[in-house]
Amino acid sequence: MSTPTSGHTAAFRAGAFPVEEDGRIVGHMVEKNAKPVIDGLSPFLRGVKGAALEIGSGTGQHIVRFARAFPDLDWTPSEPDAFHRYSIDAWRKHEGNTTNPAIEIDAAADWAAQTAVRAIAPLSLILNLNVIHISPFSVACGIVNGAGAALREGGLLAFYGPFRENGLHTGVGNATFDARLRADNPDWGLRDVAEITALGDAVGLTRIALLNMPANNRILILQKT
Ligand SMILES: C[S@@+](CC[C@H](N)C(=O)[O-])C[C@H]1O[C@@H](n2cnc3c(N)ncnc32)[C@H](O)[C@@H]1O
Repeated sequence: MSTPTSGHTAAFRAGAFPVEEDGRIVGHMVEKNAKPVIDGLSPFLRGVKGAALEIGSGTGQHIVRFARAFPDLDWTPSEPDAFHRYSIDAWRKHEGNTTNPAIEIDAAADWAAQTAVRAIAPLSLILNLNVIHISPFSVACGIVNGAGAALREGGLLAFYGPFRENGLHTGVGNATFDARLRADNPDWGLRDVAEITALGDAVGLTRIALLNMPANNRILILQKT
């Protein structure tokens, strides 16, 4: 089993989240996020078919909800952490195998070149929730660069989580959270919408939406043009 990759992961391991007999980790905040994210993405995914890849699927609770909400997409979860992949596959079985099995992806690496990714590319959607602020900036860079290579023309890259905008925090809660993350690990922290947009511009991904979500979160969507 691999080393914990985030505070979130360490919390799972420390037993802060219940784990069912079959290995499903149950994060209650994960359940809370799922519906607003589905509602936010719905207008962009109407009529969209093809392969959808999630980066950093965590417990696996989100992707089984997404697969139910958007059945025209063929969903593949991914995680660098073996403990998480076990939970993802347990959720998958629990829900009747509505997604493909979890694959191992370290988003800081050249993941788009992996055989398992090439087998499902070109992708219609790449999604990541709460990943790029709880990992080094190289992970954000890797997600965007990989998306530039793996998305089909018109395909979407969507980020969900807290962001800075124009160099500023969007609320006191986010500023406190950012300080806590950076104290845990100086390479972590909230990313600015503009820096992610600039990464996208460099690889042919254009920002098409920035959606306000509950608790000062955002969905940022880039499209391959
Ligand atoms: C805060 S958790 C979010 C999990 C899930 N997406 C959610 O919203 O509940 C951060 C996730 O990012 C993953 N992660 C950390 N570093 C990563 C990397 N280099 N590549 C891909 N995923 C990574 C962690 O393993 C963890 O599952």
